[in-house]
Amino acid sequence: MKNQIVNIDYEGLWSYIESNFALRLSSWHGPQHWRRVEQFGVKLANENGADITVVRLFAVIHDSKRLDEGEDHGHGLRGAAHAEQLRGHWFEIDDERFSLLYEAIARHADGRTSDNLTIGTCWDADRLDLGRVGISPSAKYLSTDEAKKYIPPRKTYFLDAPHK
Ligand SMILES: [Fe+2]
Ligand SMILES: [Fe+2]
Repeated sequence: MKNQIVNIDYEGLWSYIESNFALRLSSWHGPQHWRRVEQFGVKLANENGADITVVRLFAVIHDSKRLDEGEDHGHGLRGAAHAEQLRGHWFEIDDERFSLLYEAIARHADGRTSDNLTIGTCWDADRLDLGRVGISPSAKYLSTDEAKKYIPPRKTYFLDAPHK
């Protein structure tokens, strides 16, 4: 059934992934980021009808195989391969949903937008957290209208910046 919530031990899955994460847990691309992606993603999915199970799995897996804090060009494909390994052990989803999850993870760092609601929601949730590295996502890099409402204000780092 479309958008049926799948019963997954998310707490156990998060612990397993965190304990196998190559970077420090306080990484820019680590669990605190994953949690914000999950929160953004669930909020967007509740508004636009994207598949919440895929969105939540994307959040915890998409950056789990990063090996450095730079661009790490291979981390999307490594993350997607990780999702393949986790499937059947930590979660069971049908092929149609898994193909969405796989593509969302594999291509999330390619700088594209998606016409698919669930993939676009995953990518938007990730990009809405770019504020952590001082970047405000531009609306043209967001796939869904819902996400455009949540673009964070641009940060300034001047110590004497006026408070407005
Ligand atoms: Fe990433
Ligand atoms: Fe990310």
